[in-house]
Amino acid sequence: MIGAITKQIILSQRARLTPPSPIRRLAHLSTQAKANGTKVYHLNIGQPDIETPKEFLDGIKNYSEKVLAYEGSAGNEQLRKAWSNYMNASLGLSTEPAQFLITTGASEALIFVFMICCDPGDEIIIFDPTYANYIGFAAIAGVRLVPVPCTMDSNFSLPSRFEIEKRITSRTKAILLCSPNNPTGTVYSRDELQMIVNLCNEKNIFCVVDETYREFVYGDRQPLSVLHLDPRNDKIIVVDSLSKRFSLCGGRLGCLLTSNKEVLQMSLNLAQARLSSPTIEQIAAAQMLNSISSDFLGKAIKEYEKRRDTLYDGLKAINGVNVHKPEGAFYAIAKLPIENAEDFASYMLRDFSYNGATTFVAPAAGFYMEGGRGMSKIRIAYVLNSEDIKKAISILEAGLTKYKSIK
Ligand SMILES: Cc1ncc(COP(=O)(O)O)c(C=O)c1O
Repeated sequence: MIGAITKQIILSQRARLTPPSPIRRLAHLSTQAKANGTKVYHLNIGQPDIETPKEFLDGIKNYSEKVLAYEGSAGNEQLRKAWSNYMNASLGLSTEPAQFLITTGASEALIFVFMICCDPGDEIIIFDPTYANYIGFAAIAGVRLVPVPCTMDSNFSLPSRFEIEKRITSRTKAILLCSPNNPTGTVYSRDELQMIVNLCNEKNIFCVVDETYREFVYGDRQPLSVLHLDPRNDKIIVVDSLSKRFSLCGGRLGCLLTSNKEVLQMSLNLAQARLSSPTIEQIAAAQMLNSISSDFLGKAIKEYEKRRDTLYDGLKAINGVNVHKPEGAFYAIAKLPIENAEDFASYMLRDFSYNGATTFVAPAAGFYMEGGRGMSKIRIAYVLNSEDIKKAISILEAGLTKYKSIK
């Protein structure tokens, strides 16, 4: 037996301020529902179901070195080159491999950015609702996130420059944008991006753009990187990821991309402290980027656009549900005619099934810094095929009717 512990050791502020993921928090209820024989339609997590490119999987299978060594801390040279070439060819940019630092997912790149730009107590401006893990990264780095509210009524577009500027203080180090946006699916216009870049230039703060979903834009829109506006601006830091674009979430590959040599050097110092990102995945990703046809992404985007339409039409038709039409990524926020979406999401998993199936949705409050604004909303990830989305929506509708009748 371990010796008697008389006094509990107090764990860090950092740990206590890191919230559980709103996407995963109810996972135990889903596991239980499945154990009870209920089929669960997952609309809670942005895990694409599109097959990972063969080019990547072949690269993994063909690895033949006798020793699996560390990769360089800045990333595999072939991958830095391939990622740069890929962006230049597909987006008409002129990036250079030396501007790339390969990270273990965009998640690690974001942690590096927070750590490098800010001392504890410094501030980063974000748009609310926001990608929930920014809240966790901020807690890890001791950064205060300052939310600027965006509303469903205006399709979650950016508020005026005045609203943003008035939140800038002497401790503000950056404005962080995510476009196309998770959780709203909003794609910021060139003018909106330019407004943020101008503001960052004037206030001498960083403009950090999370471009994890860059190519996932629908209708007539073309992918837009902040680098299209100002390719050599040393206040711009792009965070990118292969996770969603190539159905490669488990590959854990992202990057930080900037012209700012000091940021790159500091990132490299942090990267050296964690040694390297996984070796084989980087080699396979380089091979994939060098050989994959643009068809892969073209088809995936068409498929997601179809799903977006199915989801939007289906939700809009449910009495009392308010939803905006997402323009990109694969998420939507829906306002339900109920008070507590977390209670409803739990109810769906714990107490409800329809023809042996239920849906798992993410309560949106966890994506809001001002949580009250998300109380009656859910975030939906449309990463199921259209037929399954239709079924999931029927279940959601039946669940809502039942839930309202008993609450
Ligand atoms: C907006 C956004 N940024 C970053 C990430 C993290 O991506 P990665 O898998 O590359 O760590 C995600 C993942 O869902 C995301 O939605």
